[in-house]
Amino acid sequence: MSTYLITGIAGFIGSSLARAALAQGGQVRGMDNLSTGKKENLSEILSRIDFRQADLLALAATHDACRGVDYVFHEAAIPSVPKSVLDPLGSNQANVDATVNLLVAARDAKVKRVVYAASSAAYGDTPTLPKREDMPPNPISPYAVGKLAGEYYMTSFYRCYGLETVSLRYFNIFGPRQDPTSPYSGVLAKFITQMLQGEQPTIFGDGAQSRDFTYVDNVVDANLRACQAPAAEVAGKVFNIATARRVDLNETFRALKKIIGYPGDVKYAPERAGDVKHSLADLTQAEKHLGYRPKVDFEEGLRRTIEWYRGNS
Ligand code: UD1
Repeated sequence: MSTYLITGIAGFIGSSLARAALAQGGQVRGMDNLSTGKKENLSEILSRIDFRQADLLALAATHDACRGVDYVFHEAAIPSVPKSVLDPLGSNQANVDATVNLLVAARDAKVKRVVYAASSAAYGDTPTLPKREDMPPNPISPYAVGKLAGEYYMTSFYRCYGLETVSLRYFNIFGPRQDPTSPYSGVLAKFITQMLQGEQPTIFGDGAQSRDFTYVDNVVDANLRACQAPAAEVAGKVFNIATARRVDLNETFRALKKIIGYPGDVKYAPERAGDVKHSLADLTQAEKHLGYRPKVDFEEGLRRTIEWYRGNS
């Protein structure tokens, strides 16, 4: 039986990973400083996990959390582009300093592998689509720089210390439990909850920007695969995790309007600083080395997510 440490366990991706690891018979330990995560996300599994409310920047707590662990899923982050534009120092501490602390602790505890939540934001505005992992990164926002630095640290810890790491570049993950309440929340969580409450959503820019929206179950599957794939194929490497379909925001709004039955229109506001225009993944590497293929497509993901918010808001 494997022991997993999940950082950011109270977030929507971390808590989904916790459920999946438990379902596989794993032991689950989690760290979260509850800066964006919520303990409610863990309510029905809290008694079955070793939950620690602690910050990765507290090195002693991080060392302690890594003891006896086989696999680490590193999901903890401040995941917002605009927040990083407003507060680059805070973003760097949460996304870079915390990651280095975790790597040092994981190395010292001799964990088998660290799987890292990297970001497609690393590609920035390079014009070529779809994005392949061998393309040069071109980060725009401080957030994107921090997430890319985390990848480099992952690879460096593999090369220098032999700690196996796998970086998964997530493309706009969405699904149940994603926090819709902050101005920095992901666009789907915000739009769905606003439209369910009869409020008008806002598109920043002209709505032609597109994203490769990815349902959370796909990313959970990718993480479990990343633990089991042969080291020779994955250690120290970076993989896109996405749906491999690009939808623009105007289209996204129309799809939501139809499923939700929202009668109104969307409003438009100025484009956000640091925003990427288009995003679409090439999944060749993930398929070849992780056996990853998206199991849940965009529409089905939307339906499941809307259903969840209907029952839980
Ligand atoms: C998102 C993730 C980031 C991840 C990245 C991977 C969040 C909060 N951000 O960044 O962690 O690393 O994908 O690619 O989950 N928008 C609106 N109206 C709104 C909110 C947003 O029009 O009310 C627009 C934004 O300007 C942007 C698009 O929707 O063009 C997506 O924004 P957002 O959901 O914040 O995600 P990303 O910035 O793409």
